[in-house]
Amino acid sequence: MPEEINRETFNADPLTEDVSDAAPQTLAQPAVPALDAAAESQQILSGEMQALGAAYAQARANGAAAEIQPRLDYPPYRSSILRHPTKSLHHADPETIELYSPAFGHMDVHALESDLTIQHNGEPLGERIIVSGRVLDGDGRPVAGQLVEIWQANSSGRYIHKRDQHPAPLDPNFTGVGRCITGADGSYSFTTIKPGAYPWKNHLNAWRPAHIHFSLFGHEFTQRIVTQMYFPGDPLFALDPIYQSIVDQDARDRLVATYNHDQTKPEWALAYNWDIVLTGSKRTWTENEALGAEGDQHE
Ligand SMILES: [Fe+2]
Repeated sequence: MPEEINRETFNADPLTEDVSDAAPQTLAQPAVPALDAAAESQQILSGEMQALGAAYAQARANGAAAEIQPRLDYPPYRSSILRHPTKSLHHADPETIELYSPAFGHMDVHALESDLTIQHNGEPLGERIIVSGRVLDGDGRPVAGQLVEIWQANSSGRYIHKRDQHPAPLDPNFTGVGRCITGADGSYSFTTIKPGAYPWKNHLNAWRPAHIHFSLFGHEFTQRIVTQMYFPGDPLFALDPIYQSIVDQDARDRLVATYNHDQTKPEWALAYNWDIVLTGSKRTWTENEALGAEGDQHE
């Protein structure tokens, strides 16, 4: 579900205001009506992010350990201030949870569910892509039999969700969800449409870089990770407080897929590779549900 998609009407468009008979503006009457919390400029947010990045770089220079996880309290990500966990973890008995949790078998996941472009009568609009990679443990060994699920916006940057009122078109031929099971070599592959960037109301003119949400289940439902994959060269990286909430550049880079021309299919689809490392110092950043992050929401 959308995270910050509080897309209420935004009355900043001067074209919607009849000013033909309006008295000249005075200093006491701001030209733009007072807006809501989304009024802060990108410049303000970028300044905060740069300061946090500089402080992290200084800490690293002084010998601090690398931070490979996002900061739960990252003020430029405004809503994280109110909803990040403040209490210690509550530990549950995994075996008890397994008694009540849903279960799936290999037969429950059809091979065609990994193709998001064939779920309707027609083909979805947008740039067809193949996203594939491997799920690996900290020693580089493949992790087989993982349930990998993805969800994403369509090519216009729109989710099918009631809270997503972004004025971009829905695509009747694209739902934006798919899943598969990793093979013996830990591999997964999805055929889909490259998602578009979309606005969110963290601040004025805030846009999320294009991304695909990933969820992985292990052999038990207590073994779940949720994360996001990005596309190389996105100009929004530096501007996005969610991406920047991981203050370490190397850790951020591990969320960015690599374009693979050898796997790109002529006249058909561009290919991207993205491996997910579950443990160790090179692990992929994940939204840890146990920590109370918004693991099952899309952001
Ligand atoms: Fe999202």
